Amino acid sequence: MLGWTSSALKNEVPASCGDGRVTRKENSAGEGTEASAESCWKTAELPPALSAVGHLPLKLRHQILWVILIDKVASIVAYSRFENAEQFRVDGLCFLNSIIRRITTMRMLAQHTMIYLGLAVLPFLAGCTSSGPVVKRSYGTMPDGRIAKLYTLTNAHGLKATLTNYGAILVSLEVPDRAGKLADVTLGYDSLEGWLSSTSYFGATVGRYGNRIAKGKFVLDGKTFTLATNDGENHLHGGVKGFDKVFWDAKLVKRGGAAGVRFTRTSPDGEEGYPGKLKAAVTYLLTDNDELRVEFKATTDKPTIVNLVHHSYWNLTGDPNNTILDHELMLAADHLLPVDEGLIPTGELRPVKGTPFDFTQPAKIGARINAEDEQLKRGNGYDHCWVLRNQTGKVALAATLYDPSSGRAMDLLTDQPGIQFYSGNFLDGTVKAKGGVKYQFRTGLCLETQHYPDSPNKPDFPSVVLRPGEIYRHTMILRFSVKK
Ligand code: BGC
Repeated sequence: MLGWTSSALKNEVPASCGDGRVTRKENSAGEGTEASAESCWKTAELPPALSAVGHLPLKLRHQILWVILIDKVASIVAYSRFENAEQFRVDGLCFLNSIIRRITTMRMLAQHTMIYLGLAVLPFLAGCTSSGPVVKRSYGTMPDGRIAKLYTLTNAHGLKATLTNYGAILVSLEVPDRAGKLADVTLGYDSLEGWLSSTSYFGATVGRYGNRIAKGKFVLDGKTFTLATNDGENHLHGGVKGFDKVFWDAKLVKRGGAAGVRFTRTSPDGEEGYPGKLKAAVTYLLTDNDELRVEFKATTDKPTIVNLVHHSYWNLTGDPNNTILDHELMLAADHLLPVDEGLIPTGELRPVKGTPFDFTQPAKIGARINAEDEQLKRGNGYDHCWVLRNQTGKVALAATLYDPSSGRAMDLLTDQPGIQFYSGNFLDGTVKAKGGVKYQFRTGLCLETQHYPDSPNKPDFPSVVLRPGEIYRHTMILRFSVKK
């Protein structure tokens, strides 16, 4: 079974030491055993009595924090000088338990209780909770009063991925350049408000169907379904309120040495016109091999269609004032799906050889983007799905991206049959985003691993139908490195 829990964030409890570990086997790519140790990675929500603390201004919280810290340090120093210092010895991870066990007098009980409470309250006063390399904090309040959360994962080399449970979005990803300098290589916003009104799908989890479905209609088992249309007459990226515009439940996970977050949600039967109740999960894991793994899973209670997609915009220079035209791209694909004026595939698989769409060898994105070509005109640049050479359903290299100016390189691996390369042709400088920058034409690019657009209406394309009892899976791996 899927292995997610329906426990919302508020049901999570502080980790106990060493117990409650869960081990489960799974991997869409059949890549071995996954060990997920949740217990010591869970973070605590504010108990109701302390919830008022979360509403205090940050400055005041920091002042209180300092007072408590100074008080605790002073009392520990005084106590260890005048009482039995032995009893304060920190005993591995379970030092609080060990301290409490050693209490012998009422006075000690009172003092230790104070210390315990102080330690428990400190992270809340600081406005965040921390567990291993995961930090969780509040990201902002939704119009309906719900609080969105921000999760920061950091790996052994300092790479940092920040995620939110609103839209299961990758908010930022900091990776080093050849000098070791970290920079965010994704486009997006500084605050929740930006994502709430965004129509660009920056960093988002797109669903139920990433990319376009012609006229928002398809036939499944003889029945016609009509989806919300939001791209002219077509359906794009899940409709008016797709998976990028909803709240997800979140749970911290750990696999091997990698920390991650698993987002889950149940999309009700009929949402945006799709049949069946769909249980969806997307897991982000930041490994010490400098990989960000994005894994999707879904099940349904009625026949339906699924194509969950990760929609980050990349700019490996780390400065979105630069265009992506000097990035070098390789796509492991010999064929392209040409599109009509509405960017719907015609159904043809066209060889890329000898065309501006040939990225079988690394090529500068800007080298041929303005060539006289009907397909480039239709997309206003690259906005097409390539047919990946690997059609085995197993994870394989799909693309490489390299920015010669910074040395940053990204390999992209997937088990999906297609990859949409979109060169940011709709970015027009109107949206004020991270750091106040207005993203100009072609200052970010998307590489979206997925099934082919409009597959539900193209019987010759690989099927996107999911039936009860089946599990939809999709793995996307982004592997970062530098070239000297
Ligand atoms: C599509 C573009 C679209 C962009 C933002 C991409 O996946 O290919 O046509 O403009 O998403 O919606």
